[in-house]
Amino acid sequence: MSPTRVTARSNPLRDPRDKRLPRIAGPCSMVMFGVTGDLARKKLMPAIYDLANRGLLPPGFSLVGFARRDWEDQDFGKIVYEAVRQYARTPFREEVWRSLAEGIRFVPGAFDDDAAFDLLAETVAELDEQRGTGGNHAFYLSIPPGSFATVCEQLERSGLSAPQQGAWRRVVIEKPFGHDLESARELNAVVEGVFPADCVFRIDHYLGKETVQNLLAVRFANTMFEPVWNNRYVDHVQITMAEDIGIGGRAGYYDGIGAARDVIQNHLLQLLALTAMEEPVSFDAHNVRLEKEKVLSAVTLPDDLATGTARGQYAAGWQGGDKVVGYLQEDGVAAGSRTETYAAVRLGVDSRRWAGVPFYLRTGKRLGKRVTEIAVVFTRAPHLPFNDTATEELGQNAVVIRVQPDEGVTLRFGAKVPGAQMEVRDVSMDFGYGRSFTESSPEAYERLILDVLLGEPPLFPRHEEVEQSWRILDPVERYWSRKGATPDQYAAGTWGPASADDLMHRDGREWRLP
Ligand code: BG6
Repeated sequence: MSPTRVTARSNPLRDPRDKRLPRIAGPCSMVMFGVTGDLARKKLMPAIYDLANRGLLPPGFSLVGFARRDWEDQDFGKIVYEAVRQYARTPFREEVWRSLAEGIRFVPGAFDDDAAFDLLAETVAELDEQRGTGGNHAFYLSIPPGSFATVCEQLERSGLSAPQQGAWRRVVIEKPFGHDLESARELNAVVEGVFPADCVFRIDHYLGKETVQNLLAVRFANTMFEPVWNNRYVDHVQITMAEDIGIGGRAGYYDGIGAARDVIQNHLLQLLALTAMEEPVSFDAHNVRLEKEKVLSAVTLPDDLATGTARGQYAAGWQGGDKVVGYLQEDGVAAGSRTETYAAVRLGVDSRRWAGVPFYLRTGKRLGKRVTEIAVVFTRAPHLPFNDTATEELGQNAVVIRVQPDEGVTLRFGAKVPGAQMEVRDVSMDFGYGRSFTESSPEAYERLILDVLLGEPPLFPRHEEVEQSWRILDPVERYWSRKGATPDQYAAGTWGPASADDLMHRDGREWRLP
């Protein structure tokens, strides 16, 4: 073991490789654009408070809001306070709030307002003086991608994007990263024209989820899964992200985008990448991203997109005892909109490990319930030395990673029913987070914001991954738009359109009922 280097500020008793002690962000601030949006209110502000409450933010941490509002610091402080009281995960503690509130600032202005960005630069410089933020500042763009270019140019013009010696500037961007490969490239050219690639943190909040990171632990920390994690034993993989909610007030964003761009292009392809990738040499950013990019570049589409994909749109129906309207009746949706609220696709992975194993991805709004899971379904035993009736009730073995809401892992296999007869039926063995651990899982955004402030990039997709994902999805989108028809209707509260079931039945399979 090499001795720990002792610097003036480090603790000589602490080994930096010891992961049991949480790392605390160094002096810094976060400047947030888009503070009036839902994401900022429901996720980002509460996550910052939760981090402060867990003692993971530096003492002088400051939060600067920027928006076209006639607000003073206190007004913005009130917005943050309300968001924290309503949505924070951890208990409210007055002293934590008070120290966080001391670092709250607000700069009013529009994105094209030079003077406002000059004022922002002054505000940030003052924080370095007053609160010791050390010249380290992260810019969180929780804004429509149409405004990325203007904001990035302003950050450059006002000198905000350029760190002084020994300090850092980082930019955090929320999806959507474009709406196809070409627009993603344009967007990237804008962002990386101002910030070096390693200072750009792209958020895919699924990667911040504990259960998603656990996928890597399950696969690579154990010996019992990896030997069967291949086409010799795996029949197929089903990745499901189902929501019971409709689009709510988000028609402005969602209409024209649809389920495949909103969820498959990012969250589901990332889950596929983590499920199918080879073992990385280490968990550092370079090696993890390399393996993900490799597997994404091996993803293939079905030869016939008509039978290998399905899309739907929710019609009126019942959800949890309430009557709900169909997509076309939602506020703000264009009359006759052809946007899909359900999408399913069968993909392949062209590698020695996965050749011949279909990966079925599906997502939808207003489905039976909210659930995200990855089910690795195994082939049947090649020979069953039982008589036919003994195994009538036996399904296929499966490992199911339950991403949410009932977080855990299920193993499904056959066991003998007690009694004089030999009868084998499916049973499951369960690992549930709630039963196995006393710690509750942090919110994805807590982990991701902390990683931005620490400068830890492994959980943030690189531009290459974004490009690969668009390469996969673009032909599907083009096919659907050429076809032109309205997506197949499904009643709210059901499991999607009949065409999605047909997709599976043609392959002799069934969607799982999660
Ligand atoms: C977002 C999508 O990325 O993920 C939303 O834009 C979706 O449409 C949301 O509702 C779901 O996130 P979660 O964490 O609740 O599964």
